[in-house]
Amino acid sequence: MNHPSFEGQPAIEAPAWVKNRKLIDWVRRVAAMTKPARIVWCDGSQEEYDRLCAQMVEAGTLKKLNPAKRPNSYLAWSDPSDVARVEDRTFICSQREEDAGPTNNWIAPDDMRATLDGLFDGAMRGRTMYVVPFSMGPLGSPIAHIGVELSDSPYVATNMRIMTRMGRQVYDVLGEEGDFVPCVHSVGAPLAAGEKDVSWPCNKTKYIVHFPESREIWSYGSGYGGNALLGKKCFALRIASTMGRAEGWLAEHMLILGVTSPQGRKHHVAAAFPSACGKTNFAMLIPPEGLNGWKISTIGDDIAWIKPGKDGRLYAINPEAGYFGVAPGTSEKTNFNAMATLKENVIFTNVALTDDGDVWWEGMTDEPPAHLIDWQGMDWTPASAKESGRKAAHPNARFTAPASQCPSIDADWENPAGVPINAFIFGGRRSTTVPLVTEARNWVEGVYMAATMGSETTAAAAGQQGVVRRDPFAMLPFCGYNMSDYFSHWLKTGERLEKLNAKLPKIFCVNWFRKGADGKFAWPGFGENMRVLSWMVGRIEGTAQGEEHAFGVSPHYEDIDWSGLDFSREQFEQVISVDDAAWRNELALHAELFDTLRNGLPPALTQAKKALEGKLAA
Ligand code: OXD
Ligand code: MN
Repeated sequence: MNHPSFEGQPAIEAPAWVKNRKLIDWVRRVAAMTKPARIVWCDGSQEEYDRLCAQMVEAGTLKKLNPAKRPNSYLAWSDPSDVARVEDRTFICSQREEDAGPTNNWIAPDDMRATLDGLFDGAMRGRTMYVVPFSMGPLGSPIAHIGVELSDSPYVATNMRIMTRMGRQVYDVLGEEGDFVPCVHSVGAPLAAGEKDVSWPCNKTKYIVHFPESREIWSYGSGYGGNALLGKKCFALRIASTMGRAEGWLAEHMLILGVTSPQGRKHHVAAAFPSACGKTNFAMLIPPEGLNGWKISTIGDDIAWIKPGKDGRLYAINPEAGYFGVAPGTSEKTNFNAMATLKENVIFTNVALTDDGDVWWEGMTDEPPAHLIDWQGMDWTPASAKESGRKAAHPNARFTAPASQCPSIDADWENPAGVPINAFIFGGRRSTTVPLVTEARNWVEGVYMAATMGSETTAAAAGQQGVVRRDPFAMLPFCGYNMSDYFSHWLKTGERLEKLNAKLPKIFCVNWFRKGADGKFAWPGFGENMRVLSWMVGRIEGTAQGEEHAFGVSPHYEDIDWSGLDFSREQFEQVISVDDAAWRNELALHAELFDTLRNGLPPALTQAKKALEGKLAA
């Protein structure tokens, strides 16, 4: 559809297939404020995607990769100042400060609206505003919800087509009266008449803003990842977590996988890990030699929406349709299925370009290519890298790829009813203290484990890396309301299921990242994590043994199936041991977290802490 346009007054009439009055009025209001040169109502077609990509190649935002190597794939290099989520610029603007809680940045809604009014006034001048309708979750699923993102970034429109169900079909679900979460995004770089654009427009000033009461998202100044693809962290976690609290469901930073035993019994597991801690690898795990009777299938790699069913079980969907995964470290050895998913139809961001028009990142192959163009457009060779320490790919470089291309995709990944969850796993990146695997003895103890989880920070967020921070439920940057209330919501969910006499999912805490005295990882991880999963399945089915210690139940050496792996009792001891002195320190850190969250902290968690302290002293 051709929309004639002239500066300040873009044609805003909606295509005939858009019938939702509220949506049309809102697009009109945002256009009046942001003053784009033109409006494009995205239909989600392949033709539209190809056209936008071609425009971005022309503009220098994308490079088309060699079709013989990587069909229908592109590479984007961002501005070096715009490479990660900006947690210190992320705001939860609830009416009451205590509803955002001490772990979120809060600004009063009226003050924030005044700031946004200033920032967004004319913010899209000279640019196109894309109207991007999307469904988080299979279209029409009772667990799914709809959003519409207005963005002046074609990179966002194309990435959203991969990451969500995006396009015309969403309007059919929305109908005339349907509700949607309005998401407004601008890179904050208006163009004056005749001004030449840069390849990655953005603004030093950044605001990622959520209004939980009106369920709105406003994002300004960044074009990167979770800052800009608003269906992901902003909607599917921050806004959805507040929806879940109000409506009795859970929006979680969790992968979902199916695990089928050699006997053909299938279970579903949802697992929370902080960003860049291997969720995508775990979700696509290939069982190692010796355990090849087991099968893992992938439902989601980052986010789970989980609703209680009438039968008292928890049913989960993956609200996304693609993977926005961390590229560095991904290889045929570490994640064969991800590499197969990346064969075509991918947008890469901030990885290096090879001389034959393909991509490369640290860890993709044992030997790096002899020459590359790095993510900042500079010549790169192994020798120059040794000298300068420069990485060819940014550590938070990403791929955006369709989930449907994953060889391990689960047959039920688009089942509108979701899959029933048998266990939750929580894991941080901890070089010390936390054992390989511990099973909570009950729901409250599991909630305590998840609430007090710690993890060493990664490149997924701007800021210092490698420092341990408490990351409750891996939701610290993603919970749209007070973390203490979030803990209560989890406790209440357990009580509700218990009242229905349901068998609650088991809760496990894992740590793949413990290091030995030599500073090297003591656990091989990746496919070998199947050994831990198979023990968990044994616990779910009531067949596996374990040893009770102060914090829960962990396997003995003999409780794990070691077929095909040479891993000694001594090595196992390094990853499973509980050191009392280290745990006294750890509990002191839990106390600090609880002090920060003291207003509204559920007493059940303080009692759980006391009980653990008592066991440790005993
Ligand atoms: C992500 C993140 O992009 O957690 O998934 O940062
Ligand atoms: Mn994530």
